[in-house]
Amino acid sequence: MPAISDALLVRALEAAERGDPTTAHCSYPPFAAWGRAGAAFATGSWRAALSAGEPFGIYVHFPYCQALCPFCRAIPKFRHRPGDTEAFLAGLERECRLWAPVFRGRRPVSLFLGGGTPNLLKPLELGRMMRTLREVFRPAPGAQIVAEALPEYLDAPRIGALIEGGVTGLSIGLQSLDPMMKVWAGRRVTAAAAAAALRRCGKEGVRHILVDLLAGLPGQSEKSFLSDVRTAAGWRPDEIVLGNFSAVNSGFSGLSAGAARALRGGSERMTRAGAELLGRLGYRAIGNDPVFSLDPGSPDSKYRYRFYAGLSMLGLGPGALSYAKGRAWHANSADPARWSKLLSGGVLPVERGCRAGRRREMISALVSLADSGYIPDAGFRKLAGTVPSAAFGGKLRCLEKRGVLLRRPRGWEVADQERSPYEIAREFFEPAVLASLLGDIPGRPL
Ligand SMILES: C[S@@+](CC[C@H](N)C(=O)[O-])C[C@H]1O[C@@H](n2cnc3c(N)ncnc32)[C@H](O)[C@@H]1O
Ligand code: SF4
Repeated sequence: MPAISDALLVRALEAAERGDPTTAHCSYPPFAAWGRAGAAFATGSWRAALSAGEPFGIYVHFPYCQALCPFCRAIPKFRHRPGDTEAFLAGLERECRLWAPVFRGRRPVSLFLGGGTPNLLKPLELGRMMRTLREVFRPAPGAQIVAEALPEYLDAPRIGALIEGGVTGLSIGLQSLDPMMKVWAGRRVTAAAAAAALRRCGKEGVRHILVDLLAGLPGQSEKSFLSDVRTAAGWRPDEIVLGNFSAVNSGFSGLSAGAARALRGGSERMTRAGAELLGRLGYRAIGNDPVFSLDPGSPDSKYRYRFYAGLSMLGLGPGALSYAKGRAWHANSADPARWSKLLSGGVLPVERGCRAGRRREMISALVSLADSGYIPDAGFRKLAGTVPSAAFGGKLRCLEKRGVLLRRPRGWEVADQERSPYEIAREFFEPAVLASLLGDIPGRPL
């Protein structure tokens, strides 16, 4: 166990939380601890992972939005300006062509378009992006192709372009319909317009429709949240996700600890009430996930997004993160101008990296599951190939003795949510990771 004081541990975890971009599918080592890395590290890691037969997916990060919502914690994201789209599409084409030789003969099983707001792209631009991705990477038959989308930009031509590009599912960001929230959150969509957008998606043949709502936004009442839940459920999307608002990296990151705690408590109460309401309205959840589904067995369900299931993932676009299983995590430059410039010079825009190995991958699975309050044996096995007790029996029993975890028949419950991140970090984080979080970023992949 690394010898580190409580105060330093708190500082290290605060740095980790602030530095965590939303594209990260790596809970450990935290992104803020990764070292400097370049194209050779990234391509070498992928060659090794692919030669070991790893399946993989592609994640494309479109980092632009029409307006920046003050509640949003996504990084990187930028207000869209004229010229951004052309620079993005030209850069993405270059990035795809630079990666093509590494992935020759291999086909992704998943393609995820995230952001930002990828459906800000106009129909012809969406077509151009999808054509490039499909020509270079040739998704495998039956590949899951999911796009994040705002309802404001779901007109029939855009939906048509997404479907023609092979999109099988849309993850639609509604967040809140409260009129007051709209004023301060800058979201202009009305319930009627969002309902019409969902109807168009159904009519145009989108196979799977998911709606995202947020609970515990500053100023949001439980009544307003439950009204949103009821309205969204009335449209009968395949799935509804009830997310807990987090102030970290949002426009509310300066809240006092007490105010942040109160929001968190409110948010948890609201999602519990929302879950009960959705249960009465015919939606079902599996385990602890905040995903509520009309058909939890559907292969298109978020429960089965390959994106979240420990799949190797090549990230494209400014700030995108990549994961070559058993080998590495790496990150693109998050600055769109630098991302474009490197690509124009024929260089992959990789800037940060971290070595991945079995132990780190298992810790990453444990940390991300513990964050949700429960570490199910089956969920851990899906990510890490074994059960938590087989991987870390001694350490988990230690955490149980300290009152942080509780053994349950099919997993480990987090008994002390406040202390668990610190106690888990104390037990599992390597000294080099802690040193890097405290400011000593290594000059090579960690
Ligand atoms: C970053 S957005 C990108 C997609 C799209 N632009 C949107 O607004 O839905 C993806 C998801 O992140 C979640 N999100 C954004 N800000 C958040 C916050 N402060 N706390 C928790 N979740 C947040 C929202 O639920 C949103 O659906
Ligand atoms: S919530 Fe979505 S639309 Fe709003 S700023 Fe964040 S990424 Fe952009």
